[in-house]
Amino acid sequence: MSLITTENLNKVFTRGDETIQAIRDLNLSIEPAEFISITGASGSGKSTLLYILGLLDKPTSGRYFLHDQSVEHLSDTELANLRNKFMGFVFQSFHLLPRASALRNVMMPLVYATGHDGQISESEQRDRAMSALDLVGLADRVNHHPNELSGGQRQRVAIARAVVNNPRLIFADEPTGNLDSKSGRDILALFERLHAQGVTILMVTHDQSIAERAHRQVVLKDGALVEDRRGA
Ligand SMILES: Nc1ncnc2c1ncn2[C@@H]1O[C@H](COP(=O)(O)OP(=O)(O)OP(=O)(O)O)[C@@H](O)[C@H]1O
Ligand SMILES: [Mg+2]
Repeated sequence: MSLITTENLNKVFTRGDETIQAIRDLNLSIEPAEFISITGASGSGKSTLLYILGLLDKPTSGRYFLHDQSVEHLSDTELANLRNKFMGFVFQSFHLLPRASALRNVMMPLVYATGHDGQISESEQRDRAMSALDLVGLADRVNHHPNELSGGQRQRVAIARAVVNNPRLIFADEPTGNLDSKSGRDILALFERLHAQGVTILMVTHDQSIAERAHRQVVLKDGALVEDRRGA
């Protein structure tokens, strides 16, 4: 069973009488435990696709199946619950809360999550956030605020936050875009570790050498999928 399948996905943005077709008749199947890179020129629709696949935005037309279930009829709350349960997100500009410590930032998804027996207790939230920060090598920075961390460390906090729910899928939009090459390699190594544990990863990148580390490389051009290569 595929994790995600799309059929003839289209996304059209309308501004006044101008329309932009950001995604064009896109068909994609994502299998469990794949590591996929998405490349393409600026404006080719990479972020738009990631937002749609991550249930943060809706296509204008076409179909989307998660575990063979169509998501079209789901309410915003149901979509948010699916995201919370299965998905983690990492963005180029980190999207951390500036006034919260690294630990609080990582706890955030758990504050809104409901476990099998309802709410997760604060001490369990804390324990799980600590382990996630430990996983990304930041056990000694848990009380630092984002402005007290380097770019690479901020991105590692964002990754800890993305994995704290044990997601099946991680969506990353230019996760190394704001980092020097050493920090970029560290972040990539982290994704490779998560992938080795069975997490499916979709990563948008401008960097060809990073894209080539993925096991499947998808290329977009003007919103259309023009290449889909497996290898590595
Ligand atoms: N909210 C919006 N309203 C109107 N047009 C939009 C909107 N979001 C994106 N677009 C347009 O859709 C196209 C695809 O945008 P998208 O952000 O997906 O590109 P991208 O491949 O991620 O580019 P980049 O590499 O620069 O991040 C672009 O032409 C963009 O101008
Ligand atoms: Mg983008």
